[in-house]
Amino acid sequence: MGGVVSKNVSSSSPIQKKGHQTGVAHKVAMAFTGLLLVLFVLSHMYGNLKVFNGPESFNNYAQFLQEDIGYPLISKGDGIWIIRSVLTLAIVWHLYAALVTWRRGKRGRGKVQYKVKSGVKKRQSYGSALTMRYAGIVLLAFFIFHLLQFTALKIEIGGDYHALTPYDRLIVAFSGNWWLWLIYLVAMIALSLHVHHGVFSALATLGLERRSREKLFMALSGVITLCLFVGFMLPPTAIFLGWVH
Ligand code: HEM
Repeated sequence: MGGVVSKNVSSSSPIQKKGHQTGVAHKVAMAFTGLLLVLFVLSHMYGNLKVFNGPESFNNYAQFLQEDIGYPLISKGDGIWIIRSVLTLAIVWHLYAALVTWRRGKRGRGKVQYKVKSGVKKRQSYGSALTMRYAGIVLLAFFIFHLLQFTALKIEIGGDYHALTPYDRLIVAFSGNWWLWLIYLVAMIALSLHVHHGVFSALATLGLERRSREKLFMALSGVITLCLFVGFMLPPTAIFLGWVH
């Protein structure tokens, strides 16, 4: 007995109420930034699938991203920097809110001001929190590795990336490199776990959850997760197996 999860604020002091409101604000920030990041990964996954349409299609898409996005409303090459800035802000804010929420939860545990949850519910909450944290850490590590590989071109696996087109970089990277495929597989499993729980939690945090909608939201987060996992893993797997070259 004795787990702690939900806060009872109805009879709390103004200081406790303010603390609770700040906690809610962090969770709302986490939900908004998380959903924005999910939109980004969905569109990135869709873009990667252009590898199946051949080199021209994929390279045109890469060129559109790097040069033409937003043009002629904004100058050539500026669109990608706007996207990068928004993404960086969203990631930093998401991480900060997660860290603050985690520290508050840790500090709060053991205090009397919490309602008690026990048994399966307690284990589920604790299990999800651990999954979110470890999957989040794996994702962050992958993200840094991934940007060094395909954006900064500092980790060149399979060939001289500076001399290759975006399509050929992808081909040389995954052709025969089982360990790189494995790194991406582990990262996509982490992404799936994180997104599956994250989408559902975000919708609940934003107050959209009702008992009647619970199944719908579970189904929605399941479909998004499945699309992301299959869609992201298809190109590396097809290249590794020699179906795309
Ligand atoms: C199997 C999975 C993935 C593959 C094969 C893949 C592939 C790529 C490639 C080829 C590029 C370079 C595009 C170009 O040349 O313009 C790229 C860029 C990028 N990827 Fe991924 N990606 C994957 C998963 C992810 C995930 C899960 C995330 C986010 C967590 C992500 C975030 C990014 C970002 C932020 C960029 C840089 C865009 C830019 O600023 O130019 N990718 N990815």
